[in-house]
Amino acid sequence: MSNPGLYADWPSLLKDRRLLLIVTGGVAAFRAVDLARRYLRAGAQVRVAMTEAGTRFVTPLTFEALTHQSCVWDMWSRPQAEIGHVAWSEWAEAVVVAPATANFLAKCAQGLADDFASCLMLAHEGPKLMAPAMNTGMWLNPATQANVRLLMERGLEVMVPPCGRLASGRIGPGRLPHPKAILRRTAWLLGPKPLKDKVVVVTAGATWESWDDIRYLSNRSSGQMGLALAQAAWLMGARVILIAGPSLEEPRWSGEGFDLIRVETTQRMLEAVLKSFPSVDVLVMSAAPADFRPRRVAGKIKKDQLDQTSLVLEQTPDILKTLSQRGQAPHQLVVGFAAESEELLPRARAKLVDKGLDFIVANQAGGPRSAFGAPDTQVWLLSRDGEELEIGPGPKFGVAWALWEKLVEKINS
Ligand code: CTP
Repeated sequence: MSNPGLYADWPSLLKDRRLLLIVTGGVAAFRAVDLARRYLRAGAQVRVAMTEAGTRFVTPLTFEALTHQSCVWDMWSRPQAEIGHVAWSEWAEAVVVAPATANFLAKCAQGLADDFASCLMLAHEGPKLMAPAMNTGMWLNPATQANVRLLMERGLEVMVPPCGRLASGRIGPGRLPHPKAILRRTAWLLGPKPLKDKVVVVTAGATWESWDDIRYLSNRSSGQMGLALAQAAWLMGARVILIAGPSLEEPRWSGEGFDLIRVETTQRMLEAVLKSFPSVDVLVMSAAPADFRPRRVAGKIKKDQLDQTSLVLEQTPDILKTLSQRGQAPHQLVVGFAAESEELLPRARAKLVDKGLDFIVANQAGGPRSAFGAPDTQVWLLSRDGEELEIGPGPKFGVAWALWEKLVEKINS
């Protein structure tokens, strides 16, 4: 039956987690305010520490007003001295440095502890994430790169600062990663990793089949369920390839083990799936590829040409059937979806057999409970060995998370 603990969305993974945010002295320090707000909105408990240089860009009062906690930057002046760095480092489940300056990276690489923030870094024994931001020259300098390598070798997560226009006006790498990207990396850092070292391919959304230069055939799939499944797999530690049709809105979620491949037609989706399949541990076909395509694609059909126009359709390739004819390695798991307007479970089970799947996820198409384009869903997970599990109704991310929990059990058994 339905699972009560379904997550509303991926930031809910941070609910009640204890985060320590360290803000060091760079122009990007103002964006740490946005990051702190996002952590708080996700339900995390947040404390902020700053370097002295950081306080020149944003006042500690700003963070105190947001977090309702003291913001510490000075080891020696009272009442700050009463707040021990050891107590704070032990309180925190994770420490996040944003922005991390070249100087702070260098200090951490050397194990220096000459202020409250660097003492915290040295004392904290749990996961640590650094989001650097600096001038391009400083970032590319071999000294900084060597420090980053050293920190990563020691198990710290250091994000790659994206390219863009910097405060100096120069365009190059060195921008602070977007607060949303730091937020999801934090969720990843704290998440369980049952899919670590696994490669997961998820397909999402509808494909388009051209009729003429401006018209196409498609369906109502938004791709949200596929996106939620890809996000949940990444947060569980998998390397993810999301193959999405044009109906999926730009997810702004890529890099660091999450790749997005855009395809337009069912044929192109087939090619992308076949190309990635040899290295895949789990394939989840949640896409709704168009089943038919016009036999002939014309230039733009004019309004007055209706009487000369006929729409003759042919079938597109069935991706799952093509795969099952080629066979899969014993460790590979293939999961399909079934969208049915009636006789949901019997038809889904028939598809599971017909397409040679390990699992099928059945969901309702059409009617008031249709999952298509809706934020919530309810699914039934059917396995090859006859198991049946109902998940939801609930938000698509929560249902996706619960589906992966079940699939992980299968992978581990
Ligand atoms: N699928 C596929 N290739 C297609 C169409 C669908 O691999 N050309 C996959 C879907 O991604 C899904 C499963 O097959 O995992 C079932 O899709 P569904 O649309 O429910 O069924 P169809 O196979 O298209 O059959 P029908 O439309 O007759 O129900």
